[in-house]
Amino acid sequence: MKDNILIVGGYGKVGSIISRHLAELYPKKTIVAGRSFEKAKILSETLDHNVIPYHLDIDTQTDNAVLENTKLVVMCIDQKDTKFVELCIETGVHYIDITANQHFIDKVELLDEKAKSNNVIVALSIGLAPGITNLLAQHCANQISETTVIDIFILLGIGEKHGDAAYRWTFDNIHSSYNINDSGKTKTINTKQVLTRMAFDSTILTSLVALLRKSGLTKIFNYKIFQNICIYLFKKMKIGSDEFAVKAVAGNTANEIYECSLEGKGEGKTTAYIAIETVLYVIQNNFSNGVRHIHQIIENIPEFLENLKRYDSTIEVKYKNIRNNE
Ligand SMILES: NC(=O)c1ccc[n+]([C@@H]2O[C@H](COP(=O)([O-])OP(=O)(O)OC[C@H]3O[C@@H](n4cnc5c(N)ncnc54)[C@H](OP(=O)(O)O)[C@@H]3O)[C@@H](O)[C@H]2O)c1
Repeated sequence: MKDNILIVGGYGKVGSIISRHLAELYPKKTIVAGRSFEKAKILSETLDHNVIPYHLDIDTQTDNAVLENTKLVVMCIDQKDTKFVELCIETGVHYIDITANQHFIDKVELLDEKAKSNNVIVALSIGLAPGITNLLAQHCANQISETTVIDIFILLGIGEKHGDAAYRWTFDNIHSSYNINDSGKTKTINTKQVLTRMAFDSTILTSLVALLRKSGLTKIFNYKIFQNICIYLFKKMKIGSDEFAVKAVAGNTANEIYECSLEGKGEGKTTAYIAIETVLYVIQNNFSNGVRHIHQIIENIPEFLENLKRYDSTIEVKYKNIRNNE
């Protein structure tokens, strides 16, 4: 019977939180996988053997034995290509990915027709950014007519201790620039323009990164050796906090402005909670298949955000209609 949930990277920083919660909800039906069977086994032991340890290297994975009895995959690592996603689709396995890698997301979007014809849902943008950013932007756009611009603000605490994969993603992206689609409509939210700004809870670090970007010196963050040094230093460092905040502000030509925000502690933990809630949503609801971003899946966004508070009381959500001053 196809009723297992496979968590790839399931003993990593974010993956282990997902594993712990799903072990309670689906005991003996949750498979924790990664390249170290030993690490998967240790996590399984700490969770009273309610998760099944499994050795899996998706870079070399060629057979789909583990997918035969799997209903849904939660992917907690950054992949180089879409081979494994395609394998899931071909085997009729739903797929949820917490990656924030935009180039990879763009490639997965091309699998929409394939996912539809195999009756599979591929859920993307499951995290804080992208993820909560999409939900807040979509919710704001729903509140006012003909939204023309959405500004997204992301504040990250530099005191949070991430897993290596998450640090690498941050360093890989410090030097990247993104094209903003200004052709009349952004890809999935009905507005002309979406602008995203990111800052850290240290003014010095934010200014330093801005300066390095201007001078082109952020290129250095692309080198693995430099990344390794930075990861070591960030893990040792005791400055900043683990607080984060995300805010979206939508406006239109009639000067209507609507904003909403979500703040809390622990970007990694919150990403895990979003993934768990998405797992429950995908399993319990019947909606159209295909490749979907989180804001195209969740129908009642305030309810979804409210549910996150059950995991962590530090999460706060605020809404504000500026023109009506509500
Ligand atoms: N969207 C968001 O807002 C958001 C927020 C936070 C994190 N993330 C993303 O979440 C992901 C995980 O972050 P993390 O902090 O949990 O990192 P992490 O602690 O390094 O976890 C990654 C896990 O993947 C496993 N892994 C690596 N390569 C693998 C492979 N080829 N096959 C199977 N397993 C493999 C690792 O174990 P082994 O090395 O033993 O295999 C490890 O357990 C990152 O991609 C990060 O960018 C997204």
